[in-house]
Amino acid sequence: MKNEAILDTIYARRSIRKFTEESVSDEQIETLLKAAMAAPSATNAQPWRFVVTRDPERLAAIRKEMPLAKINAPLAILVCADLSIFKRPIVERFWTQDCSVASQNILLAAVGLGLGAVWCGVHPVPLIEKRIEKLLDLPVNVKVLNVIFIGHPAEEKEARSQYNSQKVYKDRYGEPW
Ligand SMILES: Cc1cc2nc3c(=O)[nH]c(=O)nc-3n(C[C@H](O)[C@H](O)[C@H](O)COP(=O)(O)O)c2cc1C
Repeated sequence: MKNEAILDTIYARRSIRKFTEESVSDEQIETLLKAAMAAPSATNAQPWRFVVTRDPERLAAIRKEMPLAKINAPLAILVCADLSIFKRPIVERFWTQDCSVASQNILLAAVGLGLGAVWCGVHPVPLIEKRIEKLLDLPVNVKVLNVIFIGHPAEEKEARSQYNSQKVYKDRYGEPW
């Protein structure tokens, strides 16, 4: 299936940090989460769990715990992983990759819905992890990767790819492409 629109979406995705007050609908949230759960995961374990909040007090509390993410958005999705589902430690160790691809799908789906979003890192910064775990009352077996703030954009950023041929090597590392 050839579809250039996906490339436009990939380039159009930018970190949006300014939002209007318009809220994100239940339907839009479900679309974002469907996109998230369409992601690949190691052994298809799907360890992802999502804490979704539109509660202004909750959003303010999250903002307070995130030193690098003072972002005023009408919606936050916290991408978490339930490690208790894993029987083998080797697969458990892929939870960050699993949750990262799900997160990227949320960011891309947001573009498709005309929304803006920004990924704000929690893991692997122990201080922020601890703060968010406490705030969300997470069970010990649940990890949190990030907070994705989402809303209707109040800023515009240009689409771009950041392609740099000097970061590409031919056949062996260091050999120019
Ligand atoms: C793992 C990760 C952590 C990030 N953490 C933050 C953050 O705490 N606060 C923030 O404003 N942006 C955060 N970002 C967004 C980056 O700053 C942004 O992706 C980068 O500057 C490139 O800009 P772009 O997303 O518009 O392409 C994070 C992105 C990633 C992938």
